[in-house]
Amino acid sequence: METKKDVLILAIESSCDETAAAVVKNGREVLSNVISSQIELHKLYGGVVPEIASRKHIEKINQVIEEALETAGVTLDDIDAIGVTYGPGLVGALLVGVAEAKAIAFAKNIPLVGVHHIEGHISANYIENKELEPPFLCLVVSGGHTHLVCVKDYGEYEILGRTRDDAAGEAFDKVARAIGLGYPGGPKIDKLSKEGNPDAIAFPRAHIAGSEYDFSFSGVKSAVLNYINGCQMKGTPYNRADIAASFQKAVTDVLVDNAIHGVKEYGLNKLAIAGGVASNSTLRAAMAEACAENGIEFYYPSPIFCTDNAAMIGAAAYYEYLAGTRHGWDLNAVPNLRLGER
Ligand code: KG4
Ligand code: ZN
Repeated sequence: METKKDVLILAIESSCDETAAAVVKNGREVLSNVISSQIELHKLYGGVVPEIASRKHIEKINQVIEEALETAGVTLDDIDAIGVTYGPGLVGALLVGVAEAKAIAFAKNIPLVGVHHIEGHISANYIENKELEPPFLCLVVSGGHTHLVCVKDYGEYEILGRTRDDAAGEAFDKVARAIGLGYPGGPKIDKLSKEGNPDAIAFPRAHIAGSEYDFSFSGVKSAVLNYINGCQMKGTPYNRADIAASFQKAVTDVLVDNAIHGVKEYGLNKLAIAGGVASNSTLRAAMAEACAENGIEFYYPSPIFCTDNAAMIGAAAYYEYLAGTRHGWDLNAVPNLRLGER
């Protein structure tokens, strides 16, 4: 009997401030996952500077790919397809990965599979949860995106809700800056919150009338800034840990409410989380508790697969590859690519 051949994908991710490459076997087995982060560089400016990001990607990408191949113990001759993020993201940053992927695929005469960054984040859940299969609901919370997505099948998505203004991670970063924690703020708020009281300050929980799955975080962000201004004007001291914990609770309450509501309404029994903010300890704990109460199976990636990485792109590329997705040499970076578009 003929045995089914393994599919090895070399995946590349460069949509924001991480230059990453990974080798993934059959979509779920990560043979290597190399990430070169530019965070230290962008910290100086309090956020990602697009031009600097692009230049740094160019400097790092070859080295990162070589390391990914070496760690996996393979060469380009063993690779069956190249997966690459082609949107959404910073156009100059995306272009570096796309150009590199096209060059390798052309030189080696192997298929090129463009991947949507959010599809990558969602697929991060397949890596450590070998039994997870669609359909399930996924809450994608990152620095640039906040989406509640029904994963109907591999590569088939329905967006239930999204943010009307700031992304969840963006709100974390802005509040962190307001209380003097620096960039990126999410992990710092997460840490400082452990010393604070989440019920100390009543920050608003935005529920949007008529759009039960949409999110809005600009209100809670403004409430934090107003609270700090108020304290400063009155000359009263404020407790940064209490602010962090109360803000974090306000955000997670809404994320949990909408996600659980969505799972029930859509008649599903599985919920996954993805994206940088999915590594938040309060969100993970609150979601786990709500899922347990409601008989919902809860899935979440390890923190290293939550923030930007190429292993998740390899997982997504595998299912696109199986579905027959092939991109041509005209593949371009699409900064505002929509989920589900090919
Ligand atoms: O997914 P990601 O690496 O990049 C995007 O695709 O945007 O997400 C980065 C975002 C940043 O806003 C960062 O502050 C946030 O994820 N983040 C966190 C935590 N770790 C990273 N937010 C809250 N708690 C965390 N532990
Ligand atoms: Zn991301």
